[in-house]
Amino acid sequence: MSDSQRRALRQLWNQYGLELSDGLVDLQEQFAKDQPVTIEIGFGMGDSLLEMATSDSTRNFIGIEVHKPGIGHLLREAKERELTNLRVYANDSIEVLGHCIPGASVECLQMFFPDPWPKKRHHKRRLINVKFLDLILPRLQLGGVLHIATDWEPYAEEITALLHQHDGFRFADIPWRPKTKYELRGMKLGHKVTDVAVQKI
Ligand SMILES: C[S@@+](CC[C@H](N)C(=O)[O-])C[C@H]1O[C@@H](n2cnc3c(N)ncnc32)[C@H](O)[C@@H]1O
Repeated sequence: MSDSQRRALRQLWNQYGLELSDGLVDLQEQFAKDQPVTIEIGFGMGDSLLEMATSDSTRNFIGIEVHKPGIGHLLREAKERELTNLRVYANDSIEVLGHCIPGASVECLQMFFPDPWPKKRHHKRRLINVKFLDLILPRLQLGGVLHIATDWEPYAEEITALLHQHDGFRFADIPWRPKTKYELRGMKLGHKVTDVAVQKI
């Protein structure tokens, strides 16, 4: 972690951070304005989340990430841009969804380039599985969107199949999103990028 990322974490956490230990929160109370909430899981260095929060002040954004340098980078940039529609959890998303996010409170949940864990013996570490979809579904509003992107084709096929089999979702138009850091790296390696979006029914 760079010095400036460490400093941002120390100085800006009170302003932008949300605590797992606070348990279930009223999401709207965390923001200056009462407006639809987008959650991004695994934002990495956070540049795409920052771009979305900066370009759309009519939505509130919550990032969930465990990678401390990325969180420090996001906080520093959020302060620089004087964002009031962005908050962050520095915890495992399974814990945050399970303990902190109320039912029917999220309009969009996005996961851009979740770790693909390409080796077969590591597949069980993949975040997206039936249990995870069952955790997300009740937290989405009716008609709320789950948007996933990956550059690992076998994972894209697995995710698409899981969503087809799940009776809580129907396939939807792909929302706009910025390109992410991990995506650009994958594209340089010739990887094909797949976006999938579903709506809660
Ligand atoms: C491959 S990176 C992609 C980062 C970013 N979305 C991008 O496209 O540049 C996956 C990210 O997910 C985060 N992550 C993995 N498991 C997580 C979990 N259970 N909860 C929150 N974040 C997680 C990792 O720390 C990592 O930053």
